[in-house]
Amino acid sequence: MPEPIQTLTTIDAVRALVRDARADGRRIALVPTMGALHEGHAELVRTGLERADLVIASVFVNPMQFGPHEDLDRYPRTPDADTAALAELGVAAVFMPTVDEMYPDGGRSETLVTAGHLGMVLEGRSRPGHYDGVLTVVTKLLSIVGPDVALFGEKDAQQLFLVRRMVRDLNLPVEVVGVPTVREPDGLALSSRNRMLRPGERADALALSRALAAAGSAADRGVEAMLAAAQSVFQSDTGVQLDYLAIVDPATFRLAPAEHHGPVQVLVAARVGAVRLIDNAVFTIA
Ligand code: PAF
Repeated sequence: MPEPIQTLTTIDAVRALVRDARADGRRIALVPTMGALHEGHAELVRTGLERADLVIASVFVNPMQFGPHEDLDRYPRTPDADTAALAELGVAAVFMPTVDEMYPDGGRSETLVTAGHLGMVLEGRSRPGHYDGVLTVVTKLLSIVGPDVALFGEKDAQQLFLVRRMVRDLNLPVEVVGVPTVREPDGLALSSRNRMLRPGERADALALSRALAAAGSAADRGVEAMLAAAQSVFQSDTGVQLDYLAIVDPATFRLAPAEHHGPVQVLVAARVGAVRLIDNAVFTIA
């Protein structure tokens, strides 16, 4: 019988739990989340349980990664359902701090971990400061928990790339593991924001995964053909406002030139009604 999940709201309580786990020689995995959990998060937890003796999940809607006109207030918050789901999955503890616990100086941190140039392109261009907010809170969570391994979804490819680079740049003693995106049977990538879609918008949101599939089907014709194929999906889909569509080299996250060969990552962001969604997929140009 696994031990019941502990709900921790203070940094001190997390550190005490980690101290005891370390005294028992146990490996720790961290699953950072903003809650409103779905099967994609469950996969993060399952991967964490494969790689460590104990999983600690955090549920914290981090205000520092939301811009002034973004959906911080509307972002779904379902703490009871999240705790129940994490308990069911065998998570040892969930860290659910208040904003004050994480940012006692007026809800923000003056000291930032900045994502640099790659934090200002693509997703970062549309959401200025977003990745600085992400890297700052991830650094805080890594510092609070001190896990052996931390799990992140591949759906936010730029976030995963930037977290990996930060860990390398700052010599943080943690292994970062990316976990594949979980999709609905019709291709829609699972996202906490999907639950903000209105009924008719659910079908419109499929434009993102359709665009990725269209790009993939043109992979034998190179970068330009892939972009054109993906773009054509948005020309016929009126309910969706494309934000960006880009093809990067996954090794560098730089835009892939027209003559690129080898792996490419197609990235898409679009607004479906009031909800902004992202998705990506990796293909190979032979
Ligand atoms: O991917 C997310 O849910 C968030 O960006 C993260 C990593 C939990 C930081 O707030």
